Amino acid sequence: MIFKNILVVCFLATIAFMNVSYASGEKVFEKTCASCHSGGLKGWLSGAPAIGDKSDWSEFFDKNSLETMKSIVLNGENNHKAKGGCEECSDDDINLAVDYISSKSK
Ligand code: HEC
Repeated sequence: MIFKNILVVCFLATIAFMNVSYASGEKVFEKTCASCHSGGLKGWLSGAPAIGDKSDWSEFFDKNSLETMKSIVLNGENNHKAKGGCEECSDDDINLAVDYISSKSK
């Protein structure tokens, strides 16, 4: 019985962990990247591709692999602000945010 309970707890913990890591890519995006990457006036002014707009993103996905994009955003290459300007974001936060964009826009 105890063994069975432990299995159930492990199972629930795994699900909870999966949800948290997915949600945090979205959270980082909403907090840090959405100002430029969700369309609207600022997106248009800055020329940033809007999340979910596959035609906006296709030139970037054609040109760069996901790994290259992560390094562009992390290090601030090609005029991109390093980490999108989020000083307190960890490298993992940024990688998750790029994964999140890719999952919506590719
Ligand atoms: C100040 C506005 C701004 C913010 C904030 C911003 N971006 Fe960008 N991003 C841009 C612009 C503009 C481009 C297009 C650059 C170009 O034309 O080469 C871009 C391009 C990109 C690309 C494609 C890079 C390539 O050359 O392949 C990725 C990926 C990306 N941004 C991810 C992010 C992520 C993740 C965040 C949040 C952590 C973020 N951006 C925050 C303005 C922004």
